[in-house]
Amino acid sequence: MHLLVHFSVKAQEVISLTEQLCIRGGRRLKGTVSISGAKNSAVALIPAAILGNQTITIDNLPEIRDVHIYKQILKQLSAKVIYNKSQLIIDPREMVCKTVQDGLVTELRASYYLMGAMLGRFGESCVGLPGGCNLGPRPIDQHIKGFQALGATIEQRKGTIYLRGKDLRGAKIYLDVVSVGATINIMLAAVKAKGQTIIENAAKEPEIVDVATILTSMGADIKGAGTDIIKITGVEELGGCRHSIIPDRIEAGTYMIAAAATKGEVIIDSVIPKHLEPITAKLREIGVEIEEADEQILIKGNEVYKSADIKTLPYPGFPTDLQQPITSLLTQANGCSIVTDNIYSSRFKHIDELKRMGACIKVEGRSAVIEGKVQLQGTNVSASDLRAGAALVIAGLCADGVTSISGVQYIDRGYENIEQKLTQLGAEVWREQI
Ligand code: EPU
Repeated sequence: MHLLVHFSVKAQEVISLTEQLCIRGGRRLKGTVSISGAKNSAVALIPAAILGNQTITIDNLPEIRDVHIYKQILKQLSAKVIYNKSQLIIDPREMVCKTVQDGLVTELRASYYLMGAMLGRFGESCVGLPGGCNLGPRPIDQHIKGFQALGATIEQRKGTIYLRGKDLRGAKIYLDVVSVGATINIMLAAVKAKGQTIIENAAKEPEIVDVATILTSMGADIKGAGTDIIKITGVEELGGCRHSIIPDRIEAGTYMIAAAATKGEVIIDSVIPKHLEPITAKLREIGVEIEEADEQILIKGNEVYKSADIKTLPYPGFPTDLQQPITSLLTQANGCSIVTDNIYSSRFKHIDELKRMGACIKVEGRSAVIEGKVQLQGTNVSASDLRAGAALVIAGLCADGVTSISGVQYIDRGYENIEQKLTQLGAEVWREQI
């Protein structure tokens, strides 16, 4: 039997705002952790589902705040949404085109996918400017450029973007920057446009392939997803399908780094090792032992780690989303490491918090210069965004004493059951009212 969940995002947020995540450090992580479905796929697959004229079933859905917000958005647009644990059934047939309540749209970055998906479904969309983690400037000019190339007109009034394009036509679109969001958004708008769309300099992230896979199962004609040229031939109609979300490579990478930082021995289960290669390679360079199997990765931590230089790049480069977590590990390596973020110029809000724990780090432009090895000390710290939260969790796991992390609502945005998963690995983690 399916359970219809009337989940209140606001209610959960209020709870998260009054909570802190506490960690007593010093325990080596040991055991197996099972990785959830990918957040950044889920928040694109849900809007993709509205393009169909039949029911879509999405399996392996992570139970995280961004997904709950998206479910609420769809309900506001009158879609039928049935949610049962990790499965979401979306019946988009009775959906209406209207403005989504600002509070929900500004809650998450990926609300921008409503622009492409509603444009494809209704020939128009009116969506507030997206929110999400504050990582410095996050323009959406490439999304807009794509919609315009397909023939849509744009108007921005009072923080809302109105797109109109009843008769979208395929076009050649060259992205000036490699953008995950723009690549997916243009795909969403183009699958039902007349003729062929070619996206050049497209992003190649596994999440893009996942979105192309669901759209193809719904009847779309997409070639080249996962390469930098994607060709989409528009079709009249899309139907329903059942789709299972790929594993979350960023959640997996976070646990790989946590296992290494605590000198633990952890099996990371239900993963696609190929998606983790950029992380595996760096961890091996630092001195972590890694064995790969079909859907598992074994991480064996060591007593001594070497410093490393890391530069974030679009996939298959080292992901910006693990730049903050790996900084915490590098505080435990001997010597000087440099972590440069080429994607977000100011994704460094975790550094001041790590310094409060005793880390020796300087931010110079786009780089963090980390002097190891330092014994971190537990204290009160604050997560300013999702991956900053992950970095502080890892720091807390190897610190002396108790680390209390506020800003839990950011961590809940992207990590399913983080304290249960860590507890299962032997960490001492709990939530407390502030
Ligand atoms: N950019 C532009 N113009 C655009 C779009 C992007 O200049 O129109 C720039 C951005 O400012 C950034 C770079 O291009 O410097 C890459 O941005 P991208 O569009 O790829 O990022 P995004 O789609 O907004 C997604 C993930 C992020 C992840 C980035 C990079 C989702 C919902 N978010 O964001 O995930 O950091 O790709 O891989 O998929 C996270 O999970 O913590 C997270 C922030």
